Amino acid sequence: MKQVVIIGAGCLGREALWLLRDLIKAGAQMEPLGFVDDDPGKAGKTILGLKMLGSISRLEKAHKNLEAVLAVGDIQAKCALARRLKKRGIKFVTLVHPQAVFSEDAVIGEGSIIFPGVVMSAQVRIGRFVLLNPGIILSHDVLIGDWSLIGSGAHFAGQARVGEGCQIGTGVNVIPQKTIGDWSVVGAGACVISDLPAKTVSVGVPARVIKKIR
Ligand SMILES: CC(C)(COP(=O)(O)OP(=O)(O)OC[C@H]1O[C@@H](n2cnc3c(N)ncnc32)[C@H](O)[C@@H]1OP(=O)(O)O)[C@@H](O)C(=O)NCCC(=O)NCCS
Repeated sequence: MKQVVIIGAGCLGREALWLLRDLIKAGAQMEPLGFVDDDPGKAGKTILGLKMLGSISRLEKAHKNLEAVLAVGDIQAKCALARRLKKRGIKFVTLVHPQAVFSEDAVIGEGSIIFPGVVMSAQVRIGRFVLLNPGIILSHDVLIGDWSLIGSGAHFAGQARVGEGCQIGTGVNVIPQKTIGDWSVVGAGACVISDLPAKTVSVGVPARVIKKIR
């Protein structure tokens, strides 16, 4: 039995618990141990029937070889925490909801969280610590880079690529073979019909760059 701590007791933490419980119902040998979170307002509370175990730093000192889900929405914070906790020997589980569908040659990286209704076609590659929200369709050969967060209902046509650390809004469409550069943001509902540069914010149909990210 794998005992799993959920790091982050916010909205994504609650969603990760839902996902874990659905996996357990489907036969996974896992048990949620509790949440850890640095928000003092959450100390001592029970959230959706699961107790708070304390702060993240207390957890680092208390446990060796722990398995955890990193349920942190902010991409920069997620990156920093994953790097810090990996140095302490914490291992990260990859959560794929039983109602996500993927081809046998799809690759899904460590620590990624994949919600129900996601479809991953032939040779899709999902990096490490990626978050795929419900109802995302990834056609053949799509690549999603490490750390990226994809909003629900986004559609990626064949060979589309998302760089690392991107935030793709809900309902975005990307036509075949287009690339979204590293650490970029694409606004909800945008339609990407040309490559988008790294570290930019784009919105609209078709998607146009509206600002750079420093
Ligand atoms: C794109 C986005 C990140 C921009 O946020 P922001 O940097 O705070 O930008 P602002 O709200 O100041 O908007 C800047 C301009 O872009 C426009 N804009 C913002 N989001 C837009 C969108 N999704 N589509 C079209 N135009 C948009 C605004 O109307 C504004 O236009 P103006 O300058 O003519 O007034 C945000 O609006 C967005 O769409 N986020 C997606 C959230 C999401 O879907 N998350 C899902 C994952 S959980």
